[in-house]
Amino acid sequence: MKMLIFYLFFVLYFATILPLANAESEIDGHTLYFYWCTQCHGVAGRGDGVNSTSDMRINPRDHTDASYMSTRTDQQLEDVIKGGGVSISKSSMMPPWRATLTDKEIKSVVLYLRKLCNCQFEGVVSDEKLRKTSPDFK
Ligand code: HEC
Repeated sequence: MKMLIFYLFFVLYFATILPLANAESEIDGHTLYFYWCTQCHGVAGRGDGVNSTSDMRINPRDHTDASYMSTRTDQQLEDVIKGGGVSISKSSMMPPWRATLTDKEIKSVVLYLRKLCNCQFEGVVSDEKLRKTSPDFK
């Protein structure tokens, strides 16, 4: 009987703890973005958060804009989040986050940015490829 209780306890323990551990790693990017980024970038990531007003000389980036976001590598996105706009000669209105977020958290935010734009880095399109896809290209 004792053994059975022990066994049940064991099963219940893992049945409850493991899914929680997994859930934690999945929520990160979205939750962090919601907490730290939406006041400027907007709840849907369109660059229209409550702090994004006409007083801002440069508006927060629209993270759903796939044509822009696909020109950035994941590394470039991580770098600008870590070092802020100034680190890539852009607006100081984009704050640096390296003191607030860990490297791992920043990576999960980048994963979330990729969900928002529904895009990946597409690389520099070569002339050769352009000639094939658009006959007008010289
Ligand atoms: C105080 C307002 C503000 C907050 C908060 C903020 N941003 Fe920004 N962000 C900006 C502005 C303004 C720009 C546009 C900078 C420019 O184009 O010069 C920007 C640009 C960006 C860019 C595009 C950089 C590029 O390559 O052009 C990324 C990516 C980004 N922010 C991510 C984030 C993330 C992730 C967070 C939260 C951790 C965040 N931002 C929080 C204001 C903010």
